[in-house]
Amino acid sequence: MCGIIGYVGENQAVPVLLGGLKKLEYRGYDSSGIGVLHPEKAQIVLRKSDGKIKNLEKLIAKQPFPKSTIGISHTRWATHGAPNKVNAHPHADGSGHILIVHNGIIENYELLKKDLKKRGHTFKSDTDSEVIAHLIESYYKGDLFAAVKKAIKKLNGAYALGVISSYHPDLLIAARIGSPLIIGCGKNENFIASDAPAILDCTRRVIYLKDGHMATLSKSQIKVFDFNGKVVKPKIDRITYSLDAVAKQGFDHFMMKEMHEQPDVLKKMLASCIKGKQVVLDGWNLSEQQIKNISNITIVACGTAYHAGMVGRYIIEALAGISVNVDVSSEFRYRNPILSKKSIVIAISQSGETADTLAAVREAKQKGAKIVSICNVLGSSLARESDAVLYTHAGPEIGVASTKAYTAQLGMLYLLAIKLAMVKKYISTSEINTLITQLKKVPSLYTKILKTKTSIAKIARTNSHFGCFLFLGRNINYPTAMEGALKLKEISYIPAEGYAAGEMKHGPIALIDEYRAVVCIATESDTYEKMISNIQEIRSRKGKVIAIATEGDKNISKHATHVVYVPKTHKLLTPLLAALPLQLIAYYISVKRGCDVDQPRNLAKSVTVE
Ligand code: AGP
Repeated sequence: MCGIIGYVGENQAVPVLLGGLKKLEYRGYDSSGIGVLHPEKAQIVLRKSDGKIKNLEKLIAKQPFPKSTIGISHTRWATHGAPNKVNAHPHADGSGHILIVHNGIIENYELLKKDLKKRGHTFKSDTDSEVIAHLIESYYKGDLFAAVKKAIKKLNGAYALGVISSYHPDLLIAARIGSPLIIGCGKNENFIASDAPAILDCTRRVIYLKDGHMATLSKSQIKVFDFNGKVVKPKIDRITYSLDAVAKQGFDHFMMKEMHEQPDVLKKMLASCIKGKQVVLDGWNLSEQQIKNISNITIVACGTAYHAGMVGRYIIEALAGISVNVDVSSEFRYRNPILSKKSIVIAISQSGETADTLAAVREAKQKGAKIVSICNVLGSSLARESDAVLYTHAGPEIGVASTKAYTAQLGMLYLLAIKLAMVKKYISTSEINTLITQLKKVPSLYTKILKTKTSIAKIARTNSHFGCFLFLGRNINYPTAMEGALKLKEISYIPAEGYAAGEMKHGPIALIDEYRAVVCIATESDTYEKMISNIQEIRSRKGKVIAIATEGDKNISKHATHVVYVPKTHKLLTPLLAALPLQLIAYYISVKRGCDVDQPRNLAKSVTVE
């Protein structure tokens, strides 16, 4: 949520900042801005624009920057204040000599603003962020680092911060609490960024700035401190993924590219975690005795990751016989979750920076639970705060709609459930072996489904005019229905509801008429007949049905308006397969309706505010 990139070095700052912003646009895209220090005068130079980064680019072409070697920039996802040019970052102090970019929310900004106003400060924007620039100004006595250090002590909330000042032409300051920020270490140049893709073509050496740490960067030096100013020795990590991973590689959209990566992601995961007949999870550090002692599991996650967690409940309960509770992270703290030292909390998050999930994890930790995270982004806050991390290694996911991260989360949940099942001996070894054999086949089944995308596209386009969709599933595919609905609504803006099919008669059936389309997950299962009854109920009320069914099912076409077939697999594995056609349906409807597939309105990839 919001993207920051800052540069100090011997090269021109603006091309680096603009290039970096484009790579971070997935984090927020309602307005953007760049601020640099004038190379000759003690001045800051600012260009800001509403809308996407291409608007900022056009503005810079018309009003070029002077050649500067230090600057900060930002792409915004609005929280406080409308998405417009005035509220776009960077924000300057009253004197116009101090410039900040901020990601996060300053919860006490109203109080701070009131106080600063009393002391003669005037504000230009409606943002919470602008108070930071004024606070720094109020503490500035010739030492920018000291002023920033004092200012951040006054802030409540979450922030990743970049600061420059025309008083200090070779100094970039960074600080963070709760919002991600990395430092890129170059040769005679250094960087700050919200995420690695922004700086990947400049350097692969990065420092993941920790919560409660700040840093000073010049072109030749990086120093890291805690908030009391005590020097901290930073750890330099190396980013290993290729630049190709963050490019579209010939696909029209990142989402399409990422859907096509699913066979490979799963294949690699299975190859690295299944050794003979054993499941070996790198990062898993619970002993057999600890597994035997697990009293209950709670899964916390948001959005798509929450749906993965819901599938996880069915799998773990079925395979390992452990009771599982699944919570939306943002609600977890508001009840009184009963946890103990024998409880395991599994936090699922692609980004590992989702504020709600981090808050849930902190709550669970306080109650004594052990935290296992399933996470995609290496070195993320969630990974650092967990007792054990199971990385999905799905590679960077740029499309805001999660696809490969979801199926990778599912893949990891299957592996984890099998691991638990082996220790708990809840199901027989032969049942486990059958499941593993079938699981290994899923990557090639993905490839098979992707080959049918043209016919899926046709069905999607035929139904793209419907103003409302219902997604129904039962049992382990109830979460699949919810995920299908989320995918469609987020990228096509069509109201879509995901329901347990059994619940249809308790309300949603009132929606059904000839203007509604209903997607029914009717793959081979113990509840197949019940799904057919649901389909008949919809058809008799003139609703249109798109059924997701198992190859070889000759009966389904008698009932459904359209059928999308997925290959036959183990019943428990059907969520892995059914996810893919639902992603494709959402994608093609979005394209047909002319929506922005990769950057849907109002959304951001990584939700770092609560
Ligand atoms: C997925 O399509 C969504 N964009 C969103 O629901 C996402 O899954 C959610 O915000 C959680 O993100 P995380 O996995 O990074 O924690």
